[in-house]
Amino acid sequence: MTVIEHICGSTLRLQLMSDLHIGSLHTDYKLIESELKRAEAEDALIAINGDVFDAILPGDRKRYRANNLHPRMYSAGDDMIGESIRWAAEILSPYAHRILMIGDGNHDDSVARYHHIEPVKHLCILLARDSGKPIYYGGYHGFLHLKFPLCQGNTSRACGHYVIHYHHGAGGGAPVTKGAITFSRAQMWLEGVDAIWRGHTHNKQAGRDSKIVFDSGKVRAENRVSSKDVLTIRTGAYMDTYQGTTPEYLMEHGRKDNYGALMDGSALPKGGMMLELTVEDCQKHKMRETIVHSSLRI
Ligand SMILES: [Fe+2]
Repeated sequence: MTVIEHICGSTLRLQLMSDLHIGSLHTDYKLIESELKRAEAEDALIAINGDVFDAILPGDRKRYRANNLHPRMYSAGDDMIGESIRWAAEILSPYAHRILMIGDGNHDDSVARYHHIEPVKHLCILLARDSGKPIYYGGYHGFLHLKFPLCQGNTSRACGHYVIHYHHGAGGGAPVTKGAITFSRAQMWLEGVDAIWRGHTHNKQAGRDSKIVFDSGKVRAENRVSSKDVLTIRTGAYMDTYQGTTPEYLMEHGRKDNYGALMDGSALPKGGMMLELTVEDCQKHKMRETIVHSSLRI
């Protein structure tokens, strides 16, 4: 599992995005742009949890449909993966100084599997080279460890911590439960995380659970019991599953159905979420505590 560490100030805004599906005909590129602009306006960092690329290419006999690819993808001849990477770099490079991490999704992973190139890794290399700052390649899953030191230097060891477990996600779309079971399962095998973040199903959902933590290491009995919130976050995609058309258009141009529409999938809310973290230095039961508060804009 990849561990990405980042030192913050007293607050942090983090724009959480996934499932950009760059190269698809049905992607709402304007919405991607507006979320990136919002990150810029609000001085937020950006993290992307996979499916950066749609990448269902002619070599994929099972899933490829000519009418699901954006016309731009046909403009580069056989260099469709190259064109996808260049397009993603074009969209993201004005915001590269804000990008903390970009990870893989199943669509990106298929490119590695069938075409032997890791497109997200190449995108990170390109963005890092152009911006002069490292862009962490997150792989398919890992932890974002955000640290909030209360004082500069070594004058204090007090530090707030916020840990996000990210995994792009796997399996079916879970249209009825909207992925609630995934988070129940993750709560069973993950310990010590403040947020569990998934993408993949394109169901935009979030919740807040609370856990009681018993710390046997505390001297005073009353200090051994505390509660801890865990955010469960599933960022949406930027895809329009359904769009209006006419019989005349179908006769002239053919069907351009999104794969979700052909599966009788539901229309889904689009886009990512903004996580805001603030640190508080407080005294509780005669003990110093550093608490990181979270809020999420969906
Ligand atoms: Fe996706």
